[in-house]
Amino acid sequence: METISVSRLQHELEELLHEHRPDGQEGQVAEYIPALKQANPTHLAASICLLAGEQVQAGDVDIRFTMQSMSKVITLAMALMDCGEACVFEKVGMEPTGDPFNSIMKLEIMRPNKPLNPMINAGAIAVTSLLHGSGTEEKVERILSFVRRLARNPAIGFNEDVYRSEQETADLNRALAYFMKQYEVIEGDVEDVLDVYFKQCAIEVNCWDVARIGAVFANRGRDPETGEVIMPEHVAKICKTFMVTCGMYNASGEFAIRVGIPAKSGVSGGIMGVVPHCMGIGIYSPALDEKGNSVAGVRLLQSLSARWGLSIF
Ligand code: DON
Repeated sequence: METISVSRLQHELEELLHEHRPDGQEGQVAEYIPALKQANPTHLAASICLLAGEQVQAGDVDIRFTMQSMSKVITLAMALMDCGEACVFEKVGMEPTGDPFNSIMKLEIMRPNKPLNPMINAGAIAVTSLLHGSGTEEKVERILSFVRRLARNPAIGFNEDVYRSEQETADLNRALAYFMKQYEVIEGDVEDVLDVYFKQCAIEVNCWDVARIGAVFANRGRDPETGEVIMPEHVAKICKTFMVTCGMYNASGEFAIRVGIPAKSGVSGGIMGVVPHCMGIGIYSPALDEKGNSVAGVRLLQSLSARWGLSIF
């Protein structure tokens, strides 16, 4: 990896933003959660949080968006801390699926009937069901306060409209969750588990928040500014490994070859990138490809990685 000059990185990030902004035209904003339809497909933003503390940003960095599947990394880290590895991996596997993020197919044909990994919807719902807390409110509050700590932003909350919109239309996620209840992957009230899951997906952030969160993972679980341990190193390591193998769904293999950065996308168009020992990256561009990953976001990361030699491979 090249030594990073902050002023050059700033200049080149602005150039890349300009180059990749039109790429959004080749994608489609997510529609299956109606509230996400309102996003502007021409928006593109990138923030980089270097572990040395510098902030490099370009594009529409003031836009706020919901975490969606990026939140799955956060709840995985929490479940590993709450219950330990053995308990988490009794309920979810460690393998990529090769299927879309909301697919039910493998859940039915695999024995035992547990989700293949925590980055697909079924796996993430199962992980959320493991979180400690006496009721849905306390669980949501715990997730929010963990996200606020990771991002060092006490103002982070969740978007009520996006939450309601998903709540009202989430029949597929409901089907996954009830299926898992039947096979004892999920215990307790399914609607309560789903309520926490929809709220974690609706947590609202900007690109800088995402970059800051990524930087904690890049820094092996420690706050890059204060050195405070936010999660144990082995928890950060498991999360980063899942980001490589499953973070971009059934495009994770291609992304690993072309970009080579542990990353997690969400259907809002966000991508969290983690360059170990170096930087956290937050990207936003809401027009998605057919697998649910941001078109302009993925291409921008590809250019950035090639330019600065960021691939971990
Ligand atoms: O459960 C869902 O379908 C959404 N709340 C999150 C899915 C998602 O972000 C998939 N991403 N690419």
